[in-house]
Amino acid sequence: MKRIAVLTSGGDAPGMNAAIRAVVRTGIAAGLEVYGVRNGYAGLINGEIERLTNRDVGGIMQQAGTMLRSARSKEFREEAGRRQAIRKLSERRIDGLVVIGGNGTQTGSYELSKMGFPVVGVASTIDNDLYGTDISIGADTAVNTVLEAIDRIKATASSHSRAFLVEVMGRDTGYIALMAGITGGAEAVIIPEVPIEPDDVLQELKDAYARGKSHAILVVAEGAKPNASQLIEYFREHKADTGFELRLTVLGHVQRGGTPTAFDRMLGTRLGAAAVQALLGGHHGVLVGWVNHRPHVTPLSEVAGRTRYADRELYELARVLAR
Ligand code: F6P
Repeated sequence: MKRIAVLTSGGDAPGMNAAIRAVVRTGIAAGLEVYGVRNGYAGLINGEIERLTNRDVGGIMQQAGTMLRSARSKEFREEAGRRQAIRKLSERRIDGLVVIGGNGTQTGSYELSKMGFPVVGVASTIDNDLYGTDISIGADTAVNTVLEAIDRIKATASSHSRAFLVEVMGRDTGYIALMAGITGGAEAVIIPEVPIEPDDVLQELKDAYARGKSHAILVVAEGAKPNASQLIEYFREHKADTGFELRLTVLGHVQRGGTPTAFDRMLGTRLGAAAVQALLGGHHGVLVGWVNHRPHVTPLSEVAGRTRYADRELYELARVLAR
């Protein structure tokens, strides 16, 4: 193996830059030429490939986002798009590819590896919903960003005795909501893994006030059923019953920014370096994740199409701690 390329795809995540930097610098240290693909799979199909040096990846580790940029590509989901991508890699005589990204991205990298191209995935998504890793790059920073917001909201909620619904990201899973809810001392956490009746949520809020709380913070994952807007709608209809004022804060893409935490910089660094080692060691068609505090390799066939759901035990703990 002489030339490898690296790309980032799907939702950007803080710590991706640390992973890119590690791929470039460990690759060059191992005697490889390293190339960066701009704009994810879409850029790969268009041949947006350029050589990277150690200096090109200087000063990026402390930035959120991805210096290679990212995209969600419809074309790559088709076989014709993937064939075109392999053609572009071959034209540049690239013989290995590191793909940094989350669930959809790694399903794409599995498809590419099935077509015979040596690919290694790196687990990166703020959602932490990827099978084959205990934690993915970006999740720690996102949870800390949500936590800071909850701490701020709590101050105003308490001052006005209000209840707040804080909607957080996570697609179909509740990792961010659960972690931020527990560490932020939320009165309730609503996650997709555990459907709940709006009536029961309302009761939980009322109970919180009855127990003498001066506020109620409800962390709601975006994929929850009911979701935050449905809950607000329901609470509005039952306004007479609530006895407290309610506000909604949707944190949205704020959660994808922010200075990457030391944990995410280290995770990106370790997984990026391990991905290069995997390629050099002939481990292709695998995802490099973080299991038991070490880089761990899982076949992409076991990762693609699967979801890592939030820990049910932690959900129960959140309920107890909210008392
Ligand atoms: O997968 C990361 C994520 O931020 C999810 O939490 C969210 O559902 C989705 O991406 C948003 O995607 P987009 O940035 O394309 O709107």
